Amino acid sequence: TEVIIAESEREAGAIYAKCVADLIERKPDCVLGLATGSSPLAAYQELARTITERGLDVSRVRGFSLDEYAGLDPKHPESYHSVIERTVIEPLGLDPELVHVPNGDLATIEHAGKAYDAAIEAAGGIDVQILGIGTDGHIGFNEPGSSLASGTRIKTLTEQTRIDNARFFDGDVDQVPTHCITQGIGTIMKARHLVLLAFGDGKAEAIAETVEGGVSSFCPASALQLHPHATVIVDEQAAARLR
Ligand code: F6R
Repeated sequence: TEVIIAESEREAGAIYAKCVADLIERKPDCVLGLATGSSPLAAYQELARTITERGLDVSRVRGFSLDEYAGLDPKHPESYHSVIERTVIEPLGLDPELVHVPNGDLATIEHAGKAYDAAIEAAGGIDVQILGIGTDGHIGFNEPGSSLASGTRIKTLTEQTRIDNARFFDGDVDQVPTHCITQGIGTIMKARHLVLLAFGDGKAEAIAETVEGGVSSFCPASALQLHPHATVIVDEQAAARLR
């Protein structure tokens, strides 16, 4: 695993932006793996700037996001459909028809995971997958204990993750859905390049486990050690526990 220590979220974002902009130039219909949460926000902003600066045509760029809440109306402002629309599709100017988010509709969720993995496969696989990491080492909504070979599927959110995400639901944990649909670790590992971003001392322990700990489902992100092309970009604080 390649580790880059960046001076700021913005500098980290610029590294991601250059990598993706070069990819778009080489492969105008490339497939981006997208994530929600705060860690990728500066990266999306830098990418939007780079696209404008370099005058790149993004009309054929495709996207697959990591996860979605189960049973939450996709029109809800905090659904990951809405978040991806606001933070990725609009600023980058992508075609919304080409950007996919897992379907959390309870009526179809049982089969939605397999269908999602098949759609990624049919698109030729993900070229660059951006990732954040939870303080417990989760990637996507794959909490500790998730099978390292898992495909996209329904999962129960841990109490801690629901508490962490209550800030998006008027601070009321009862409004946070109890389940989600998430790309599996096996799904994520099929992407050709993984770029994990982590900032702040709250992530230091998880980053040390991910990069230097044993590969184990107790730290789902440690699976990155088995990936042939994984890049971890952190700030000084998140790098503090590395040896
Ligand atoms: C986002 C996701 C999560 C977050 C992680 C870190 O789609 O699947 O794994 O990346 O919870 O969140 P932030 O970046 O808000 O610290």
